[in-house]
Amino acid sequence: MNEKQLAAEKSIEFIKNGMIIGLGTGSTVYFLVNKLAELINNGLSVKCVSTSVQTTKLANSLSIEIFDFNELDYIDLTIDGADEVDSNLNGIKGGGGALLFEKIVASNSKQIIWIVDASKVVKTLGKFPLPVEIVPYGYKSLFKKFTDFGYKPILRKKDNGVYLTDSENYIIDLHLEEIQNSIELEMKIKMLPGVVEVGLFNNIADVVIIGKGESTQIIKRK
Ligand code: A5P
Repeated sequence: MNEKQLAAEKSIEFIKNGMIIGLGTGSTVYFLVNKLAELINNGLSVKCVSTSVQTTKLANSLSIEIFDFNELDYIDLTIDGADEVDSNLNGIKGGGGALLFEKIVASNSKQIIWIVDASKVVKTLGKFPLPVEIVPYGYKSLFKKFTDFGYKPILRKKDNGVYLTDSENYIIDLHLEEIQNSIELEMKIKMLPGVVEVGLFNNIADVVIIGKGESTQIIKRK
């Protein structure tokens, strides 16, 4: 079993009958959704909310019903991947472009677990380009601001066009290399008009499950 699958399958132990579950997005969550489908087939009863079109399609293909978040008052547990995570359990997310819905779902969840392979654990955040979701209107002015700040922005592209999120926004990836104060940076970027969401997830994860070699390591927020 690879490290992503190990972490994903370990996270299943946190799911209890009757829970409302937030499903993240990405290649690690892929293993979670597959395992969850197996358990639902064997009688587990949960309600699921999705953070992306990609996850909804995957879940539906495995006969997992996805509920409209507006029909639910809260989420018991969200399990999601991450692109980078540090020892304070702060992280970068949005490599797969789903940061906006992921943050909305996370901020309405009683408990949040991230499932990652060992390569995602870092001392300092920032090597992974920081995704910022922005509205397309006037995006060049934001791009210029990021350039002036020294953030080395790159507009995300797909198939020779501009990449569009599930909300039809753009993503600018900031090549920062090292983030010294992730809380300050999140606030600074979020304040800029045109910014919809920042892929910095500070003080959000409660538990991180790391797939490491042949086993898993669980880190809990202190
Ligand atoms: C989706 O936008 C991201 O936030 C993912 O959660 C993150 O990129 C992890 O993805 P993988 O599990 O594919 O590495």
